[in-house]
Amino acid sequence: MADTRRIGIFGAGWVGLVTGGCFAELGHEVVVRDIVPERIDALRAGKLPFHEPDLPEVLVRNAQRITYTLEAEELAGTDVLFICVQTPPTYSGDADLSYVWNALDELPRVERRQILAMKSTVPVGTGESVRAALEARGLTNVGYASNPEFLAEGTAVRDFLNPDRIVIGAFHEEDAASVEALYSGIEAPVVRTDVASAEMIKLAANAFLMTRISFINEIANVCEAVGADVVEVAQGIGLDHRLGPHFLRAGIGYGGSCFPKDSLALKQLASNSGYHFQLLSAVIEVNELQKRRVVQKLQKHLGKLRGRKVALLGLAFKPGTDDMREAPSIVLASRLLAEGAEVRAWDPVAKPGELLKGAVQCDTVIEAVTGADAAVVVTEWPELRELPSAEVREAMARPLIVDGRNLLDPDATRAAGFAYEGIGRASSAFESLPGTPERVWRNREVPPAETASDRTTRKPK
Ligand code: UGA
Repeated sequence: MADTRRIGIFGAGWVGLVTGGCFAELGHEVVVRDIVPERIDALRAGKLPFHEPDLPEVLVRNAQRITYTLEAEELAGTDVLFICVQTPPTYSGDADLSYVWNALDELPRVERRQILAMKSTVPVGTGESVRAALEARGLTNVGYASNPEFLAEGTAVRDFLNPDRIVIGAFHEEDAASVEALYSGIEAPVVRTDVASAEMIKLAANAFLMTRISFINEIANVCEAVGADVVEVAQGIGLDHRLGPHFLRAGIGYGGSCFPKDSLALKQLASNSGYHFQLLSAVIEVNELQKRRVVQKLQKHLGKLRGRKVALLGLAFKPGTDDMREAPSIVLASRLLAEGAEVRAWDPVAKPGELLKGAVQCDTVIEAVTGADAAVVVTEWPELRELPSAEVREAMARPLIVDGRNLLDPDATRAAGFAYEGIGRASSAFESLPGTPERVWRNREVPPAETASDRTTRKPK
């Protein structure tokens, strides 16, 4: 357990509440400040404004250590102040830092040392600008650290409490040490570095994850052309210890509140510095095209889509969240509507409302697929594993499943009487000859970790 410190959080959004809740879980006293009265009222009443597994329990368990307030003055007694405000893209692709500057304007004036720790994802150079602004205002008692978050929606609490690493960039060694001390009790490597490098680590990590996704999506598209199965290919690639198995799931593209925004911000940051980040531009373009590929798959089976009913199953940008920001379902729905199709949409938690304007929003999978000419798995919610059932087949006008996340077993789906299209799975109808052993790792999500000795003994270099 860490020595108890007083922590302030600017912003009761997703990052702020996960950060505040988890620091309280570590034993610290936390004050969460937001400017939206309804949000603070709801939090005081124990209501979370979004869906994030485990977070409600963390906030309830630590309620006595967490205060919610509208008053910036209540942050005066805190030792470290985390900035957890949004940094949305502007029209130019640059990150909009106005919420960060607003937080700075509202810093309570105190005599003793306070540290401002940046959790929001910001362009490289922000820390330097903030430091200059603090000095210009005579706030020399306020230190600064960049302490980026690597939380994924749906697993944020686990990611916070069991991180792969903690990154801290600071101008002064003692500020970095103060921030690091807040995490004591957590087992993880700590990367202490300069502020610009810490800012870059966050942007580069996300960019690299997106690059892996666009890479495997392009491999999937080539697999379709040449008759290979990208799921098998990804498993084969992932066993190479230099590459690893993560973020190699082909599909209809990434979305969410981070990847699309952060890729644009990094691309813009590079071009503001006179550098054309070609690879990142390609990653973004591949992702845009990928969201639309389902339309061609539907056309292949159904011809013109005008008047066809298409069920979109799973709408949030990934399972485990109700977040619709930059969800591929939005682009897909509007492409289908533009083709004249009738779109019937279902998600177990997301409520897209106006974002899916023109689509019929359904309460159950059966309602969505009734009379449909095709069902598309857009987001891999676990409950959709049951999709290839007799009930669904009978409800659909045509039993066509387009599996945009390679969630289903192609052979079992076909055996259940459906036409099946996955992503990059042209050769998925693998026929086992009698007596042929199951292929290694087939249907396994993540292969077991191999040991160094496996590597040295198995294959001579
Ligand atoms: C992402 C990163 O994973 C976090 O480490 C980071 O902290 C966060 O952004 C952020 O910057 O705040 P998140 O956006 O919650 O987290 O979601 P991911 O799980 O990374 O998924 C992003 C998108 O990539 C989803 O649409 C998902 O369906 C897609 N994806 C992911 C794939 O298409 N294939 C994969 O193999 C993995």
